[in-house]
Amino acid sequence: MVRQYLQLGQRTLAYLDSDPTATDAPVVILAHAFPLGAQMWEPQFKGAFQGWRLLAPDLRGFGGSTDERPEDVEPSIDDYADDIASLIREVVKAPVVLGGLSMGGYAAFAVMRRTPALVRALVLADTRASADSLEGRAARKAMLTLLEREGPQGVAREMMAKLLGPTTREQNPDAEETVRRLIKRHSPNGIRDAILRMMERPDAAPFLPSITIPTLVLVGDEDVLTPPAESEAIAAAVPNASLVRIAGAGHLSNLERPQAFEASIDDFLAGLSRS
Ligand code: MLT
Repeated sequence: MVRQYLQLGQRTLAYLDSDPTATDAPVVILAHAFPLGAQMWEPQFKGAFQGWRLLAPDLRGFGGSTDERPEDVEPSIDDYADDIASLIREVVKAPVVLGGLSMGGYAAFAVMRRTPALVRALVLADTRASADSLEGRAARKAMLTLLEREGPQGVAREMMAKLLGPTTREQNPDAEETVRRLIKRHSPNGIRDAILRMMERPDAAPFLPSITIPTLVLVGDEDVLTPPAESEAIAAAVPNASLVRIAGAGHLSNLERPQAFEASIDDFLAGLSRS
């Protein structure tokens, strides 16, 4: 795994690359959840998806990716979609399999809305298609206040119980510390702008029937942040979708049950290669 940097005008987009020399290999791009970063995919960089090159960007404002924008420009989920599109155009130069977990899924929907020709297949993990409800928006505002008062540490504390499922917390007590470490490395500004981007994102539900590429929907069966019913609704509305539930995983299914997560994607990728 190599950390790489792509210069986009004044901005830097940092990303992890399983093998920068594998320029002929088909590519999987994975977009991270809130408020983590590309490093949440470290388990997958330990040899998952044989024959495929894996890329994972730090979305704008996270980790090593900068986010200079004029003060009068509002942050939008489309910014993340454009980061992913830039990575595909500048580094991969061919359509990719695009996966996103939770907020990464919101970014993937935005890519499908803006630049669908760049994607040949989709993996939507522990995410939802609908926009924030009124209660959801109120919770985002409360989190902005908490962030201002206590920084990323406060956000980590607030979210922890919802990010990991009960099975993981019982069987792998170290997982909490791993997730806390993954959250604390991000800047308050990056986290604030991510909250604003998620809060203002459009409803992707009406758009789902127009997604015709092969789509894998994954969800931890103990996910309380984006519960299995959300994934069932996505899989029912996307014409060419299949749904896999990951037993014993909460919201961060790739970290909690990496082998089951990767096996589901391996099966999906093998199906693509055959078609
Ligand atoms: C995430 O995991 O990306 C977030 O929980 C998504 C959200 O807050 O809507």
